Amino acid sequence: MLILGIDTSCDDTAASVVEDGVKIISNIVSSQTDIHAKYGGIVPELASRRHIEMIWPVVDEALKSAGIKLEGLSAIAVCHGPGLIGSLLVGCSFAKALCFSRNLPLVAVNHLEGHVFSAFLEEPRPEFPFISLVASGGHTSLYRVDGFERYTELGRTRDDAAGEAYDKVSKLLGLGYPGGPVIDKLASEGNPGAIDFPRAYLPESFDFSFSGVKTAVLHYLRKEAGKRASGEAGKPENTDITSRLADLQTSGLVKDIAASFQACVIDVLVRKTEWAIRKEGIRRVTLSGGVSANSELRRRMEKMGEEGDVEIFIPSVSLCTDNAAMIAAAAFHYFNAGRLAGMDLNPKAYLPM
Ligand code: KG4
Ligand code: ZN
Repeated sequence: MLILGIDTSCDDTAASVVEDGVKIISNIVSSQTDIHAKYGGIVPELASRRHIEMIWPVVDEALKSAGIKLEGLSAIAVCHGPGLIGSLLVGCSFAKALCFSRNLPLVAVNHLEGHVFSAFLEEPRPEFPFISLVASGGHTSLYRVDGFERYTELGRTRDDAAGEAYDKVSKLLGLGYPGGPVIDKLASEGNPGAIDFPRAYLPESFDFSFSGVKTAVLHYLRKEAGKRASGEAGKPENTDITSRLADLQTSGLVKDIAASFQACVIDVLVRKTEWAIRKEGIRRVTLSGGVSANSELRRRMEKMGEEGDVEIFIPSVSLCTDNAAMIAAAAFHYFNAGRLAGMDLNPKAYLPM
């Protein structure tokens, strides 16, 4: 059974053909990073406009590289939330129009559910139940997954998502958008123990909080910039860090800041996942979402798996970040259960799994 998946939830236009929920036949992602990079983050209006331009070429390429025509599909699946409403509207409207014109079944998939199901697109595949950490630019949650549609959210971020913290710290350091890949690389050359940024463990809770570490980085930068501006008037906290960034970057300190910040985020993600494994008594973990592309998180989770006799499932980097194969993978289960969407499908910016 071939399902065409479509995801336009954020800033990537993605389409993919997946067989039986597990085998990727084609997987196309058109990134908008170049458009948003100069603004230091995603500009929703520009994202929607770009999706409109790219949706047909991306879907066409996904079908062509799969070597099939629309008639060969069993269904079309689309991500209907959570995400940027203007972006989601493009994918949903497009999918509805295709289904209507070709009389094809329509399936609606939650983006986070898609991330969870990305674990099934490669071997070895996890068995239920498993603990699932979804860490991306918009979400950071820990789930217990007992089967299709049997999800229990154990905890979620109370403020910034892990990827959002990477993006904000990257902006503070003048390293551009997205922050994850560049901080990941710089961190590998820095000392993670150089600066003791605060870790928010929120005792007795699986919830996360990453806004404090971002503020701690800001205060640290102000202090450092203040020291470098010695002799100038004013308190360190009033010092303009932007004008001192070039100085900080060439000093090599930026690598230590990146490594120390990263250690802080990864420590919390790993410790909370370990705790969920113990508390739920489940020795199987899947990782997904853009932050799962992080080399240190992958290394630490693999290590935890080896040392603690826990099975760890981490998709390839291209399946951790946003893609439509994960939407088609989850859609397979909806389709089999006869859970189809109607032409009245409307996307939702806020849509818990
Ligand atoms: O899942 P995703 O592609 O889109 C969302 O649904 O948000 O995740 C994007 C996020 C961005 O915040 C980006 O900075 C982060 O994932 N990211 C990383 C890495 N690669 C991407 N964070 C840490 N390390 C990375 N290597
Ligand atoms: Zn995502």
